[in-house]
Amino acid sequence: MKICVLGLGYIGLPTALLFATHGCDVVGCDVKQSVVDSLNNGKIPFDEPGLSDLFIGARRRFTAKTVPEPADVFLIAVPTPLDPATKVSDLTYVRKAAGMIAPLLERDDLVVLESTVPPGTTERLVAPQLEKSGVRAGEFMLAHCPERALPGRTLHEMVYNSRVIGGYDRRSTEYAADLYRIFVRGEIHETDAKTAEFVKLMENTYRDVSIALANEFAQLSEECGVNVWSAIALANKHPRVSILNPGPGVGGHCIAIDPWFLTENSTRCKMISMAREINDSMPNYVLHLIRRLLPGVKDASIAVLGVAYKGNVDDTRESPAIKFIQLAENEGYDVRCYDPYVKDFLYPLLPLDEATAGSDCIVVLADHDCLRRIDPAAIRVRTKNLLDTRHIMDYRRWVLEGFTVRILGDGSPTLPPGEGIESRESGLSPSLSPPAPAVSISLPRPPGQEREDFL
Ligand SMILES: NC(=O)c1ccc[n+]([C@@H]2O[C@H](COP(=O)([O-])OP(=O)(O)OC[C@H]3O[C@@H](n4cnc5c(N)ncnc54)[C@H](O)[C@@H]3O)[C@@H](O)[C@H]2O)c1
Repeated sequence: MKICVLGLGYIGLPTALLFATHGCDVVGCDVKQSVVDSLNNGKIPFDEPGLSDLFIGARRRFTAKTVPEPADVFLIAVPTPLDPATKVSDLTYVRKAAGMIAPLLERDDLVVLESTVPPGTTERLVAPQLEKSGVRAGEFMLAHCPERALPGRTLHEMVYNSRVIGGYDRRSTEYAADLYRIFVRGEIHETDAKTAEFVKLMENTYRDVSIALANEFAQLSEECGVNVWSAIALANKHPRVSILNPGPGVGGHCIAIDPWFLTENSTRCKMISMAREINDSMPNYVLHLIRRLLPGVKDASIAVLGVAYKGNVDDTRESPAIKFIQLAENEGYDVRCYDPYVKDFLYPLLPLDEATAGSDCIVVLADHDCLRRIDPAAIRVRTKNLLDTRHIMDYRRWVLEGFTVRILGDGSPTLPPGEGIESRESGLSPSLSPPAPAVSISLPRPPGQEREDFL
C-alpha cells in the first residue's frame, strides 16, 4: 500500500512514520521546503519523545517531497487555525491540500482528513474539492479521523488511544478503520464523518467548560474565604465528581480553539462561549490579584515564571501568558520572563536571576516541575511577593525567606503578618515565621501537603 501524507507537522510526520514502520510505502509531502530538506537529510524538524528512533526505522520506506504523489491513500494533516479577529476557523490549508490531491485521485482511493475541523467540513468542503478530479465521492472513499494525541506523548497516544473514525459512506468508514488497524492498538469506533468531527470538538469543549467552572470556583472561593484547591480535592472524593484545576487561562492549539469551531455556525450556544470568555478573562484576573499585592509600589516590575501554555512543554500557542504580559505592560508594569523550556517567544526570555532581579512580584503562570525547585534564597527581588496561579510552589520555603505568598483561588482567612502560620501550616514554628510582610499571608501550603481537616 502506498500512502501520501500532506502536512509533516506534529501530527502528520509521526503518523507517516508509523505507517512506514508497519510496512507501508509513504511519501510525506509538506509545502515547506525546509521541512522536506531536513527530513531528506536525516533530521527530524522538531522534537518528540521516540520520534528520532521511529524515523531511523522508517527511512527505508519514507521519502519527503514538496508535492504529493499518486497513492492508494491520501492523508491530510495540515493546520486549521482560528482567525483571531472573527473567531472563525480558517480552512484555507485544508481546501488547498484537497485541491492538490484532486488531480491525482482515482476510483477506490481513500482520502482521510485528520485535521480538526468544524462539523460538516469533510462533506461540504473536502468532498467537492476532491470531486474536481472528475471522480465522485462514493467512487473514491473519504473519511475523517480526528487526532487526539497529546504533545509530549504523541507516539504512545497515536498507537494506544482509542480512535473515532467517520466515513462519507459505510465503505469509507470500514476501509479507513482497517487502514488505522495497521498500527493502532486502541479500540477503533466507527461512525459517520460529521459525528467524528463533532466528537473531537466536544471532547475539548468539555474540558474548556470544566476549566471555566474551576476558574469560577477559584474566584468564588476567594470571595467566600475558602481555599479552592483543598475544596476541589474534597469534592473530587465524591465518586461522580471530577473537577479540573483552575489556572491563569487556557492555551494550546486545541482546547482554546475547538469550542469556537464547534459553535461557529450556531446562534444558540451560550454556555460554551461564556466558558471561553471566562477562561480568556483569567489573565485579567491574575493582573487584578497583582494590583492588590502591589498597592503604592512605584515603577513596579513583574517576573513571569513559565510562559508555555502548560507545564513541561515548550509550546506557547494561545498561552495565557501572552495576554497577561500585554495587559501588564499596558498598565505600566515592567515585565520580565523566564521559561527554561521555551526557545521562541513574542517577548525576550531571560535567565532566572535576570528575570527576577529587582522585581516586585514573581508570578508563576506555567506548572513546570523545574519551577518548584527554585531556591527563594537565591533570588534578589526588590519586594518579596509570590503569586502562584498553579498551586505548585513549596510555599513554606518562600514564606521562610520572607515572601508574601498568594495562591490563585485561596481565599481562606489571611493571618496577621508573622503570626500563627504554624497553626495553619504544616510544622512551621513561630520562631520561623517570616518577618512582617507588606501584605498578610494567605495560608500557604506546600504542594502535596494540602490539609483537608481545616475545612
Ligand atoms: N499537534 C497536536 O497535538 C494536534 C492534536 C490534535 C489535533 N491536531 C490537529 O491536526 C492538524 C495538524 O496539526 P499539526 O500540529 O500537525 O500542525 P503543524 O503546523 O505542526 O504542521 C502542519 C504542516 O502542514 C504543512 N502544510 C500546510 N499546507 C500544506 C499543504 N497544502 N500540503 C502539504 N503540507 C502543508 C505545514 O507546512 C506544516 O508543516 C490541525 O488541524 C490540528 O488542529 C493537532
